[in-house]
Amino acid sequence: MRSHYCGDVNETLVGQTVTVAGWMHRRRDHGGVIFIDLRDREGLVQVVCNPEDAESFATAERVRSEYVLQIEGEVRLRPEGSDNADLKSGKIEIVAKRLDILNSSETPPFPLTEQAEVSEDVRLRHRYIDLRRPEMLQKLRFRSQITRQLRSFLDDNGFLDIETPILTKATPEGARDYLVPSRTHAGDFFALPQSPQLFKQLLMVSGMDRYYQVVRCFRDEDLRADRQPEFTQLDIETSFVEEEDLMTMMEDMIRKLFANVLEQALPNPFPRMSYAEAMARFGSDKPDLRIALELVEISDLMKEVDFKVFSGPANDEKGRVAALRVPGGVSLSRKDIDDYTKYVGIYGARGLAYIKVNDLDAGREGLQSPILKFLPDEVVDAIMQRTEAQSGDLVFFGADKANIVNEALGALRVKLGHDLNMVEHGWRPLWVVAFPMFEWDEKSDRWTALHHPFTAPRESDLELLETDPGKCLSRAYDMVLNGTELGGGSMRIHRADIQSKVFELLGIDKQEADDKFGFLLEALKFGCPPHGGLAFGLDRLAMLMTGSASIRDVMAFPKTQSASCLLTNAPSSVSDVQLKELNIRLRKLPTTDAEAK
Ligand code: AMO
Ligand code: AMP
Repeated sequence: MRSHYCGDVNETLVGQTVTVAGWMHRRRDHGGVIFIDLRDREGLVQVVCNPEDAESFATAERVRSEYVLQIEGEVRLRPEGSDNADLKSGKIEIVAKRLDILNSSETPPFPLTEQAEVSEDVRLRHRYIDLRRPEMLQKLRFRSQITRQLRSFLDDNGFLDIETPILTKATPEGARDYLVPSRTHAGDFFALPQSPQLFKQLLMVSGMDRYYQVVRCFRDEDLRADRQPEFTQLDIETSFVEEEDLMTMMEDMIRKLFANVLEQALPNPFPRMSYAEAMARFGSDKPDLRIALELVEISDLMKEVDFKVFSGPANDEKGRVAALRVPGGVSLSRKDIDDYTKYVGIYGARGLAYIKVNDLDAGREGLQSPILKFLPDEVVDAIMQRTEAQSGDLVFFGADKANIVNEALGALRVKLGHDLNMVEHGWRPLWVVAFPMFEWDEKSDRWTALHHPFTAPRESDLELLETDPGKCLSRAYDMVLNGTELGGGSMRIHRADIQSKVFELLGIDKQEADDKFGFLLEALKFGCPPHGGLAFGLDRLAMLMTGSASIRDVMAFPKTQSASCLLTNAPSSVSDVQLKELNIRLRKLPTTDAEAK
């Protein structure tokens, strides 16, 4: 139906007759001549309709925004002075000889011609129109380029692209499962995969050696800007490798991607940081290294002070007192500090003490703080020295259980970085390594896996599984970029006895382990090679590379924060006939949140 894309018609075609097809983007009436900007995937082209050509002119008078047109005409240079440098086709125009309306369109719910402020709900409800906007089109095109590059790297390195089931059994990755009722097995359910973790490990037992898949994963969890209930992983697994081999190859893949697609050079090698160091310095296991603010440990200085808020956590094994120096922070107003105090409250912090360093050389007189009265001179001096505070700085303090201090000050550090324009430009990737195997969960009073239960412990720590599981480190690694966890993985347990031991530590008894993972435990007994892998969040990668604020912007049809699709209205109720076939009877639906719990 077309000889050229609109955006591809250029001065090399002058004098030739072309046929283009697309959407009516804009129409201007200029004293008897009608100009139409026709738009398709590749861009815009200007079409001129002259009254001499009565038939096409009459049609041109009828077309409205977003009508679908097919136009045949001759390419000519635009008259002097009317070039449009912003368009690929800006030097030429097409003089219409024939203009057909292929389809009409109702007035779109929002204009595509200008940068109108349109709510995300409206955009999602009419996503097919939203995706016509060049900005959205560009993002999806870019995403396609990313996948192509990654696939080509993996294909070149001997990886096989293998699909794994979507109707399957639960894979524990820390979220709730999406369940699918089975009609043929009354009362039984499939789970949609939270990841292909178990299947990719089984593929290693099968001897596939190098596997990858661009795969949809499903997790019913609280949503945020970088989380969707249904998202895409680039999932990878390899046999007969150590973490060094895999991390080097994966880094290389990401470096090539950035070089080829964005023409950006990432560091070689990526820096590595232990989990313990990341938590101590940044209060986070995905530190944003573009922000030059760091937490400073001061628990040891606070053990004796006459201020319970600080001395309590300082003397508690699970407590932490930390400082965060903000260069130039004296300019923060009372209101700013109150707002930051509220902000850390979201993470459970019960307050946010601070010292303003007006004049470092003036001793106590030069400092301003509601907590100064509680702190002896030597402690104040030690804080100033350790935080390297200068006149004009402000020092914030967090004191509580270590996890609360880390979360609160870690988040505050990132917020301050953005608010005070302290975020460097560019890309700061790193690997976070040496994660603990287990985390103690106060609520359920038991160990939980920091990654997933198939992650191998370090060889040198095997004994700790028996003696001190909390100290046992794993062979896991996360790739972090500018404060976002891009991907994570590990070397896996390939021995059935160690896997059983880990299940036991996690409070999964033999019966449950057999019910849920019997097939894996059995497979491990049939010659399972040492293996490991990782998975990247493809949506997150595309979000970062396109500078988008949310992963929704790089997904064609994303869901809302409450996990619904505004376009199709899914999820929705089903007919009684369907429920009956599935042997499902609904309970009375809750009408309040309390009832839902
Ligand atoms: P993990 O659970 O860390 O590991 O997931 C890997 C990567 O997937 C992305 N991701 C998400 N992206 C969008 N929305 C979500 N809800 C979401 N959840 C995770 C993140 C994350 O780094 N099977 C293991 C991998 C392995 O061990 O090989 C796994 O799934 O970018
Ligand atoms: P209070 O004695 O409760 O008025 O607190 C004095 C100062 O300490 C205030 O600036 C509080 O914001 C701060 N503060 C209280 N609890 C904490 C805490 N857990 N961590 C850090 N600062 C706190």
